[in-house]
Amino acid sequence: MAGDFERGNAEAVESLLRSSAATVQRNLMTIPRLADGSPRYARGWHMVGWSDEFAVGKAAARDYFGQRLVIYRGEDGRVRCMDAFCPHLGADLSAGTVKGNLLQCAFHNWTYDGSGQCVKIPYFDKIPPRAKTRAYPVKEINETVLIWHDHEGGEPEYDIPALQEFHPKTDPDSAGWTKGWHRFKITIKTHPREVIENIVDRGHLLPIHGFDVDHWLPVWNGHLCGELMWGKHTRLAADVQDDKLYVRALSHGPSYQYTWQIQDSAQFDSLILTSWCPVDENTLEYWFGVIVKANDAQFTPDMLEAAAEQYCKASYDAFMEDVYIWERKLYRSEPVLCGGDGPIANLRRWYTQFYTDRAQVNVSRYFNNNEHWTVEELRDRQGVVLAAQATAATALTV
Ligand code: FES
Ligand SMILES: [Fe+2]
Repeated sequence: MAGDFERGNAEAVESLLRSSAATVQRNLMTIPRLADGSPRYARGWHMVGWSDEFAVGKAAARDYFGQRLVIYRGEDGRVRCMDAFCPHLGADLSAGTVKGNLLQCAFHNWTYDGSGQCVKIPYFDKIPPRAKTRAYPVKEINETVLIWHDHEGGEPEYDIPALQEFHPKTDPDSAGWTKGWHRFKITIKTHPREVIENIVDRGHLLPIHGFDVDHWLPVWNGHLCGELMWGKHTRLAADVQDDKLYVRALSHGPSYQYTWQIQDSAQFDSLILTSWCPVDENTLEYWFGVIVKANDAQFTPDMLEAAAEQYCKASYDAFMEDVYIWERKLYRSEPVLCGGDGPIANLRRWYTQFYTDRAQVNVSRYFNNNEHWTVEELRDRQGVVLAAQATAATALTV
């Protein structure tokens, strides 16, 4: 029947847009795994949502790291995150009720505090010693909520500074920046290793993003990696003759990234937040937010907000070009690389630290002197930035 044919055909088209089951299978053979064969997820701070997704007094279910999590904001305003399945008989705690700063399971009303400890059983006085669910350290910055994921269960080993440039909508003064994020979120069928690799993939900047880079410099500093670059952007800065775009991108750990962008023409400054979190071994959620600042008094705040929204939409379209590649590519463990490619092999070595037991990680191996350069220095003190690259400490010592 025609209907069946069309449906079958749509499935075939869909499988060509994303990887076939066989390609996914091949990719899954090379992802980081634990000794028992289950996927190993990165250690580090991971975004789990925008702050406004977690209202006071409500429990929310989220699926990350191959698990169900419950996230709730207590009446004190603090967000808590725990493994969702009740240690008692396994009910999903996200169906429970927030009571003050505690969470009560819907099934038999056992009640937990934010550390995961059961503090009350309504029909028995003695709380069993094992009545405890795993809690995750939570951090809230830039109107985003992050949790610390660590397979070994350790405390956070690095912090992420909040952005000075970011101001919530309620701030009376935002120093010229738009307020709140212009933002989107998408689900991508791939592994986070593909997303992080983008940060040093110099070779894709022109074909995918229209960015003709003159200079490209890596940043390595322990849990941080990034890129400094400038050149002609054929889309973002195309309206001004010989305008150049200067970019400083910094990834704080495996999945939370800031990108500052300015131009020669100094029309707009922009600052982008990108973050991602694995849902399962081949699915992740990805968040994008942008704020902009106009260096031109003619822009009213409303015009500027509209420009930021426009920027967000354009970024979505540009980003979907990356996504289109990621969702159907093969992960090459031993890629054929050439000199102009950017330090992809170093990036992969740097990235392994988040999948390695702490005792075996030596972060001092990942270091150069480039982290401190501001995006303005890339534009205004280029000679100094480039001259500094000649010093010995700029080499990645892996
Ligand atoms: S399953 Fe949660 S209280 Fe029984
Ligand atoms: Fe990209």
